[in-house]
Amino acid sequence: MLEHQDKDQVSVGPAHFAYLRDRTTREDAFLAALRVEAQKAGLPPIAIQPEQGACLQVLLRLCNAREVVEIGTLGGYSAIWMARALPDDGRVRTIEVDPERANFAEHWIARSDVAGRIEVHRGRGDDVLRKFASDSADAAFLDADKAGYPGYLRECLRIVRIGGLIAADNALAFGQLLDVKPTDPDVPAVRAFNDLVPTVAEIQAVIVPLGDGMWVGVRVG
Ligand SMILES: C[S@@+](CC[C@H](N)C(=O)[O-])C[C@H]1O[C@@H](n2cnc3c(N)ncnc32)[C@H](O)[C@@H]1O
Repeated sequence: MLEHQDKDQVSVGPAHFAYLRDRTTREDAFLAALRVEAQKAGLPPIAIQPEQGACLQVLLRLCNAREVVEIGTLGGYSAIWMARALPDDGRVRTIEVDPERANFAEHWIARSDVAGRIEVHRGRGDDVLRKFASDSADAAFLDADKAGYPGYLRECLRIVRIGGLIAADNALAFGQLLDVKPTDPDVPAVRAFNDLVPTVAEIQAVIVPLGDGMWVGVRVG
């Protein structure tokens, strides 16, 4: 027998997502070109989806974000989405370990309308985060190596102020979350992180089923 919540939960399929996408802020020509050129340059097609970018913009505006930290820059796609939701003196500090990806991102960020609001920090997420001051950010977005997420969450709970946003991508584990025999080696790390988040008292968070699933949470303590 279905639980009360299961009966009330609409089963959302591809047609619903197409409908939703048609009613959500779209990427502009610049971001679409970035996506195409990133693929031509050999970057993997693992940037967030446009509707995730729009969702992050709404959340950043809701918490009046000025300072954002991102772990996992890739080509700068999500950093540009987020920077556009910040005031003129806002800043996204985005961290990338791969030098070629950091070069690509810096090139595109420099040509964007938010060039003055994004800094690319080169290095490993845990090394770079350690250098950021406590309570120096209003929001953080985790989108790098999945095994690193627990450490990134710990550091972001220090760096992001109380009331700020902490989001993390890939909660649905590349579509393999519930597979009996997942092929992606990062699936166990995603599952472990998904089990960890509800146990952390300093954050209240939910998984929003956009893209590959995105944790969105608020630092509460
Ligand atoms: C999913 S991509 C980021 C996508 C980007 N946020 C977007 O939506 O446009 C993940 C990135 O994290 C980087 N990465 C992996 N391990 C990392 C680490 N330990 N520290 C920093 N960056 C890392 C990868 O090189 C890759 O470019």
